[in-house]
Amino acid sequence: MNIGVLVSGRGSNLAAILKDIERGAISGAEVKIVISNDPSAKALRVAERHGVKALALVQGTSTRQAYGERLSRALVQNGVRPGEGLVLLAGFMKILSRGFVERFAGRILNIHPSILPAFPGVRAQEQAISYGVKVSGCTVHFVVPEVDAGPIVLQRTVPVKDGDDEATLSSRILRQEHIAYPRAVKLFVEGKLKIEGRTVRVGV
Ligand code: GRF
Repeated sequence: MNIGVLVSGRGSNLAAILKDIERGAISGAEVKIVISNDPSAKALRVAERHGVKALALVQGTSTRQAYGERLSRALVQNGVRPGEGLVLLAGFMKILSRGFVERFAGRILNIHPSILPAFPGVRAQEQAISYGVKVSGCTVHFVVPEVDAGPIVLQRTVPVKDGDDEATLSSRILRQEHIAYPRAVKLFVEGKLKIEGRTVRVGV
């Protein structure tokens, strides 16, 4: 299965997934292209270090819809096709157009640093601290046009400890992200995820 990864930043989730593909923990899958909307994203260097093609695609003055079409073209040109490939959002800070999401429907995953539906959107860890929750974590979900709202594949929790700040909670959650995302990708690649309405059946 050909995979395309969309990134904007550090690339630690990308690295975790590439590592599992390289060591054979995920088999039958290859990351064909990593695309960033930000040319300075460290994630592009992560891709290159792993011998994966890295592409910067800046939105500039393009509308969301036009940018979605450019992303889609770049993915297809690199072998990631609707209906057969897999698109992973790994810290991608742009909202995808409805057209893009519909083209790759059921084949786009995202990871979010909270237990959804709590704390969608940006700075989820900071939202969790401000709210005073005692447990947070991460969610891997299918992408639908509404932000952070798609069917949930898996979630992993962490405690929120007294004295936590955004940085300490983020790093505790990130360790779980690096377990959750490769696991979800493996399940998808093995055909073990089935979307039934809002629910994802795992292992079928
Ligand atoms: C992660 O916290 C992820 O949950 C969120 O963006 C961050 C990306 O981190 N969507 P990295 O670029 O994978 O290191």
